[in-house]
Amino acid sequence: MLGVPTCAVIAKQNPGIQVTVVDLSEARIAAWKSNALPIFEPDLFSVVEVARDGTDGRAPNLHFSTDIAAAIDEADLIFIAVNTPTKTAGLGAGKASNLAYVESAARMIAEAATSDKIVVEKSTVPCGTAESLRTIFAALAPSLTFDILSNPEFLAEGTAISDLLRPDRILIGSLNDARSKSAAEALAQVYTWVPRSQIITVNIWSSELAKLAANCMLAQRISSINSLSAICEATGAEIEELAQVVGLDSRIGDRMLKASAGFGGSCFKKDVLSLVYIAESLHLEEVAAHWKTVVDLNEYQKNRFARRITRALHNTLADKRIAILGWAYKKNTRDTRESAAITIAGQLLAEGALLAIYDPLVSQNQILQDLADVHPNADSVIKIYSDATAACVDACAVVIMTEWDEFKADRITQTTLDKLADSNTHDQQLESTSTSSSSDSGIDVQDDTAENASDSPAPGLDKRIDWRSIAAVVRRPRLVFDGRNVVDADALASLGFRVQSIGKADVF
Ligand code: UDX
Repeated sequence: MLGVPTCAVIAKQNPGIQVTVVDLSEARIAAWKSNALPIFEPDLFSVVEVARDGTDGRAPNLHFSTDIAAAIDEADLIFIAVNTPTKTAGLGAGKASNLAYVESAARMIAEAATSDKIVVEKSTVPCGTAESLRTIFAALAPSLTFDILSNPEFLAEGTAISDLLRPDRILIGSLNDARSKSAAEALAQVYTWVPRSQIITVNIWSSELAKLAANCMLAQRISSINSLSAICEATGAEIEELAQVVGLDSRIGDRMLKASAGFGGSCFKKDVLSLVYIAESLHLEEVAAHWKTVVDLNEYQKNRFARRITRALHNTLADKRIAILGWAYKKNTRDTRESAAITIAGQLLAEGALLAIYDPLVSQNQILQDLADVHPNADSVIKIYSDATAACVDACAVVIMTEWDEFKADRITQTTLDKLADSNTHDQQLESTSTSSSSDSGIDVQDDTAENASDSPAPGLDKRIDWRSIAAVVRRPRLVFDGRNVVDADALASLGFRVQSIGKADVF
């Protein structure tokens, strides 16, 4: 999903390099050629526009095509940036990475190439994948030389462009021979904007494993802080105070220590399970068990949050309306893969709740598709809204599942008032491109056809919800469950809400 932002930044930073993004899907390539890009990332559109359309006066050097064979044959260096989801069947099902797309990309390269190539693994892959690629190339194109490198991407969604422009490090893995090292040097020269001291070259197996290790250790930090949040709730300690104190130890650092109702996204769970599978395959049972707890704890945290909501509503949710604010797995993306919201909504629905869901970016279809997997008749027991306050009407509880800035309860300052005035103007400007409509079923539907036509913020992302209006429409005792510790609980309490946050005492 994030191959294109990477290629767009490489193209923008290197006007002399021609970059072609290829995909089997004609619809996706058409979208990348249009003004409605298929993914939302802050600042992505302006980067794409410069390189693709030459808006800074350069000759365009970012191209999109479905002619995969031609693009392969013209290229000197090819990134494989396909998905490596968890296998759903066969050996290692539920844990091992599915390398089918990587293998199929390698086959296409071997079949289309008529000259030597540098082939770079961008996707996160298990340690040893480069060896499989080498075997495929040797079998299918024995007369050509393919230098295989590993160059994993560390960017996070929602901050992809700034992560790409200011990476902590660029990691390049190669074999130890002179030819492979010179291929690694050629790749290093693509990262013209990154100081050479931040470009780390290691052996290819370390590189493959380092990417998995980094994601697993990040996920582990979140599971660790979340485990402590359970102790905080039981004892009166405060998780944010704990995270601050622990994070001030320079050996630990303060990032990725935000307690939440559970991490989501396409990487953490998949990569931890992939590491578990690698350890099991190597008969390192204790190692596998160690990493498995990271995912288990995350499931526990999601269940714990759902149980807390149910308990506060007297252990019965039958026909009770609950508003869910936020569906994306994190802010500034409309990606919902492994979003904690899906699991928690599924559990509330299983208790008989009626859900009113609002997310500023995620489309109605996506939410329905996500819920189809966790509840048989989801469309009859949920409603999707294009406005947070409307979603909260008659709600017995408001549950915050994504840390969208929009949900913060700011103290009213002059800056906030100025921002509100600005956002009103912005909304009026957007009326011609973004509409809201009601479907026959009465479900309020947000039209997402025009999103991403401009950059940060996407339509509506600079809004703030009005908690005063929400106080007037929810049912008493105005329960708010903050799964991301995003609201100022004291500010909400002063409006009459009773706020339950992660790892903190209730505030009311
Ligand atoms: C992650 C890694 O951060 C990135 O380096 C890698 O390349 C891909 O996987 P991503 O999944 O896009 O990136 O987002 P990230 O910001 O890491 O958040 C993942 C999940 O953890 C989100 O659901 C987020 O809300 C949650 N999270 C993050 C926490 O619960 N607490 C935190 O302190 C940080």
